[in-house]
Amino acid sequence: MKRLLSTGLNAGSDTVVEVVGGKGAWFELSDGRRVLDGSNSAGALGHAHPEMVETIRKAADYPVVSEGWFFREREKAAEDLIDIGFAGEHDWVGAVRFGLSGSEINDLALSLAQAVTGRAPIATRERAYHGLTGLSRDVTVQPQWHGGLSLMSGGVRPAAPNTETRIIAAPMGSLYGTRDYDLPPESPGEVEAKLDGVSAAIIDYSQGGIYHDAQWQDMVAAAARKKGALWIADEVITGAGRMGQWFAFQWGKSRPDIVTMGKALAGGAAPIGAVILSKEMVERLDGAAWQAYSTFRGHPITMSAVRTYLRIVKRDALLDRVAALGAVIGARLVEIAKKHPSVARVDGRGLHWTIELHGPHWKSWRADTSVAPIASKVAARALANDVVIGTSGEQTSLFLAPPLIMSDEEIARLLDVLDDALAVADEEHARTAG
Ligand SMILES: Cc1ncc(COP(=O)(O)O)c(C=O)c1O
Repeated sequence: MKRLLSTGLNAGSDTVVEVVGGKGAWFELSDGRRVLDGSNSAGALGHAHPEMVETIRKAADYPVVSEGWFFREREKAAEDLIDIGFAGEHDWVGAVRFGLSGSEINDLALSLAQAVTGRAPIATRERAYHGLTGLSRDVTVQPQWHGGLSLMSGGVRPAAPNTETRIIAAPMGSLYGTRDYDLPPESPGEVEAKLDGVSAAIIDYSQGGIYHDAQWQDMVAAAARKKGALWIADEVITGAGRMGQWFAFQWGKSRPDIVTMGKALAGGAAPIGAVILSKEMVERLDGAAWQAYSTFRGHPITMSAVRTYLRIVKRDALLDRVAALGAVIGARLVEIAKKHPSVARVDGRGLHWTIELHGPHWKSWRADTSVAPIASKVAARALANDVVIGTSGEQTSLFLAPPLIMSDEEIARLLDVLDDALAVADEEHARTAG
């Protein structure tokens, strides 16, 4: 019996990859191969970045100090995040609390919203994923990520969520192709009606292959304000640099009441979550104790990793680099999509991109199938060519999230291998179309 319970990112895939090491943008596997890591949303600085390794080594000397203690390194990490990550946002940004993961920090942010507004319902957008604990699981819309047993193995969801969740139609728009919408587009009036009585509207900017739309963000933000609801920007994937700017919400005019972060914020070197409150929110708390203690939040090792990560992104001008790479990748992906009839849609920003395929079960971004998903077959072909391309657990969706430090040559290789691997999807598309 295997003693470790695990999950797979690639729904239906039985490809097991044993990682024994990693350097830069490359994984080292137990069979001696080096494979390029093209889909790793936390590993923003790649693997074993020398400065991250050094920071963690030094931090191992720190005392065991929980969130209940004052610890200078934690204060400094909060100051660095505000000074560096929120530079230019100082007229509205307030204060930071650190957490353990994206899921946990979204739960914390949403419970705060419920406490502050005295309301329970929460709004999110279609195809959203906010995590797998508490309220973040309740408001996760993606049907295969519910924390129960995968539908692929004939499994079941846990009990239905306790929280009333209102689902807003996602924004329109793609760089290539069109989206298979679950909900028709909604007018500002319809969105306002959905936000009536909710504690918060929580919006993320990549899940389900749906990216930022400034006008849509501003419309939802205005509706939330009008209805006395808070607006939470879930920047767990998109925050901390992956978009070619610190946050996706910065493309809009509106500014959130709460921002949540995770993944890359500690450079992938330690588990992390962070919730950032606006000044107005901090004032609303009015000195009330926010009783949300947790043993490992703001752990000294994580705090050092956060500080080093922020410093490296700023010093190495990584945001500019990501923005420039994003333009190159977008243009190349459109070229690739035009060559492959199996590609239905492409969208993304900076260093996060989604490629949606036509599948044998078109309209099947869900994973409730027992057949090997087409996206997993494409990923397997890419892996055979020494490149990791992720799927989001859906049948038809691939995503790219390379490290921010990937070289031009490595990016070109990633896209060449994707181009080749899509032939697998074309064959299946030709067989099953019509
Ligand atoms: C937008 C978003 N929110 C929340 C989460 C959950 O983060 P974690 O996996 O760290 O719990 C994710 C993870 O993919 C995410 O993409």
